[in-house]
Amino acid sequence: NRRPIIAIDGPAGAGKSTVTRLVAQQLGLMYLDTGAMYRAVTWRVLQAGIDFTDEPAIAELVSQCQISLISSGSQPQSLRVWIDGKEVTQAIRSLDVTANVSAIAALPVVRHELVKQQQRWASKGGVVAEGRDIGTHVFPDAELKIFLTASVQERARRRLQDLQGEDQGTVSLEQLEADIQLRDQRDSTRTLAPLRQAADAIEINTDGFTIPEVTDKIISLYHKKA
Ligand code: C5P
Repeated sequence: NRRPIIAIDGPAGAGKSTVTRLVAQQLGLMYLDTGAMYRAVTWRVLQAGIDFTDEPAIAELVSQCQISLISSGSQPQSLRVWIDGKEVTQAIRSLDVTANVSAIAALPVVRHELVKQQQRWASKGGVVAEGRDIGTHVFPDAELKIFLTASVQERARRRLQDLQGEDQGTVSLEQLEADIQLRDQRDSTRTLAPLRQAADAIEINTDGFTIPEVTDKIISLYHKKA
């Protein structure tokens, strides 16, 4: 008998992270950022200089790596990420990791291992999990499934704001739109667990809505189901 699970999936930049953290905080549930796990592994592969086609080496790395996600309940915006004893909270948001994460996340060995870790982590439930395949693969029996979307233009605008906040403000809006489109395309056309809406997920298009509005909407859907 496990506690409830809320699955929040959707493409890059739809606002999943912020909304997921707020929903978790307001409902007193744990927060699982699965994208941060794929990013951490990507960072580790890049750092180790392993070729992306060297699947045995990547398999070895991912089966031995230790990922820790630490969020403090009072500060939902701050999730700290560690891999193999090194803090990578900032590093996993770099343009380099972002440009390469879809390729690493498409590898069966990587998905297999990380999904296993995610399921183990949430075996008792009480979790709001965000990603691309949460409702379809990781937690297909989640009590509530949300598919969060927004137009490419809106998502690129939000990404630009995030990056400028982090001093990576040299990239153009056009470049970000192109990056987002490419990542969506890779994520939704890969063979294994592609990004798609689960049949029983509720779609929320966030264009023109504020973060608190979207958060409230999800919380009220949750209460309606409970
Ligand atoms: O959510 P975020 O943008 O941090 O995710 C980074 C990348 O990790 C995605 O573009 C996708 O390639 C991969 N990912 C995935 N499955 C998940 C979460 C993320 O393939 N559940």
